[in-house]
Amino acid sequence: MCGIFGIIYLGNKQIGKIALEGIRRLEYRGYDSCGIVVHKNGELYLRKDSGKIQEIQDKLKFDELIGNIALAHTRWATHGAPIKKNSHPHLDCKNEIAVVHNGIIENFISLKKELLSKGHVFQSDTDTEIIPHLIEEYIKEGIDFKNSVIKTLKRCKGAYGIVICYSKEPNSIIVARKESPIIIGLDKGKVSYCASDIPALLPYTRDFYILGDNELAILRPGDVSIVNFKNEPIEITKPLKHIDWSIDAAEKGGYEHFMLKEIFEEPNALRRTLKISENELKMFAKELMDAENIYITAAGTSYYASLAGKYIITKFLGKYIQEIECSELENQLLDSLKNNSVIIAVSQSGETIDLIEAIRWARKAQKNIKILSLTNVVGSSITRYSDLTIITQAGPEIGVAATKTYTTQVLSLGLIGLQIARERNVLPKEEIDSYYDALKSSPDIIEDFLKKTNHSIEKLVDNLEKNANYFFLARGISIATAKEGGLKLKEVACRFIEGYSAANAKHGPIALVREGFPIIFIAPPDESYERLVGNIMEFKARGGHIISVVVESDEIISDLSDTVIRIPQPANKYYNLFSPITFIPALQLLAYHSALAHGLDPDQPLNLAKTVTVH
Ligand code: AGP
Repeated sequence: MCGIFGIIYLGNKQIGKIALEGIRRLEYRGYDSCGIVVHKNGELYLRKDSGKIQEIQDKLKFDELIGNIALAHTRWATHGAPIKKNSHPHLDCKNEIAVVHNGIIENFISLKKELLSKGHVFQSDTDTEIIPHLIEEYIKEGIDFKNSVIKTLKRCKGAYGIVICYSKEPNSIIVARKESPIIIGLDKGKVSYCASDIPALLPYTRDFYILGDNELAILRPGDVSIVNFKNEPIEITKPLKHIDWSIDAAEKGGYEHFMLKEIFEEPNALRRTLKISENELKMFAKELMDAENIYITAAGTSYYASLAGKYIITKFLGKYIQEIECSELENQLLDSLKNNSVIIAVSQSGETIDLIEAIRWARKAQKNIKILSLTNVVGSSITRYSDLTIITQAGPEIGVAATKTYTTQVLSLGLIGLQIARERNVLPKEEIDSYYDALKSSPDIIEDFLKKTNHSIEKLVDNLEKNANYFFLARGISIATAKEGGLKLKEVACRFIEGYSAANAKHGPIALVREGFPIIFIAPPDESYERLVGNIMEFKARGGHIISVVVESDEIISDLSDTVIRIPQPANKYYNLFSPITFIPALQLLAYHSALAHGLDPDQPLNLAKTVTVH
């Protein structure tokens, strides 16, 4: 949450323009206010306000700022309302030290009291502002810039990705991290950049240093030195990480919104993810086959991907996998986590704090536990706490709503399941091959669907929007699809639309049904199909307006439905198993068009940010 960007050049440049571009590329991390501070010839120049980046740029002309250092920030408010005074950067009393921060300083109240008693004057309600004042205090005592920062950070509890500059040290900026991501890129001898996420640096480099927890980097133009500030500050040599993302993937490329573009990118993202190496899959499969207890954990969309993945893997593994929302993992396993357990942790960003804390707790609780992770981001925090990691190949996802990262997560879990099927010989080879063929066809099925159906989904939205409420209902593996569909509508279209088990809906939610009440049934022809027919009849009998998502050749449920969305895939068990991948784009499009119908920006839902790095 919050996007931060820093840059240092050898001489003065039109640096505001570059910093503006940097935070634009991070706007999905927070978009309630923003600001840029520039250093030029010993002075700091600050511009900031509340609102979206473009609105503020139009007013304040960030792009005209000239200097050799810029720090920029786009905010998702935690401490203090999203108003001008609380936007970053924050300064000390003398306007010499500037800070941008992503995270939360948990003990800011006591530190603020201490600083107030020493005469510091605060301009904001934020936790962040204590940082420049504390550094100022140490500098006053005669300590140099770097050591003042180290002393300050040692007193701060909580999480931070932070960038700091000091007008009296115009040849360096300091960057530090504890739990909130920071990456660094260099153009050797000329310029250094840092940011809280990869898309901000893609125009400049594909090779990054990824700062670890309690590490501090001193950036000079085109040069960096890194120390661990918790121990004796001895310089660390770090390897560069190469990230193979194209810059186009982080641009809208002619689409009106990132969300729509990313839905249309799903076929290729899946094709790339199908290439996950057999070796990686084998290692995952072995751990799962050897484990006594297996848990799968995640948040939000990744959690629903885990629900679908758990069905697929369990089918071939013959062992139960318990799904647990990551924020509840510790509560649920406090008294029962065993030594030889495996936890599969799923996260697009690899930075979700609830997930990181859950796996850190599990590691501490049981030494021999294995953490297997699935993430879309090379070098993200989750990879550091994992024994094995598979990187999904969705490429950068800028829309706050997860779309292509969801389908690539389910596909990766599907590949793991099939690897297990192969190794355990649970089925005749031809059957396993048929499952493989079905999984490999998922990109083509989605491509075909998207070509034919975008328009008819728009029409369906016109119809649905006349109703205050509706449901997505399903049974079996499709409950994951229904829940994910409901989440998409909540977040991008601000509709309280619930995804629910069709069987369980009789135990309460059916009370909402009146004449014309729409219910969307997710209905691949799997083992739960006949029972779902029964559920459809129950809702029809009460006047429900039935919309169904079915396969191309479906007849029974289509005949019972008022509106039908057809997914162009064969009607057999091999394809049914991967229907969470092929059926979801229909619901993603529904949410997208529903957001537009409400005049909402689907890329920047209210109150949300893409990566949730606060508890
Ligand atoms: C997805 O549309 C959401 N924005 C959100 O639920 C997300 O999936 C969740 O915050 C988990 O994020 P992660 O996958 O990066 O861990």
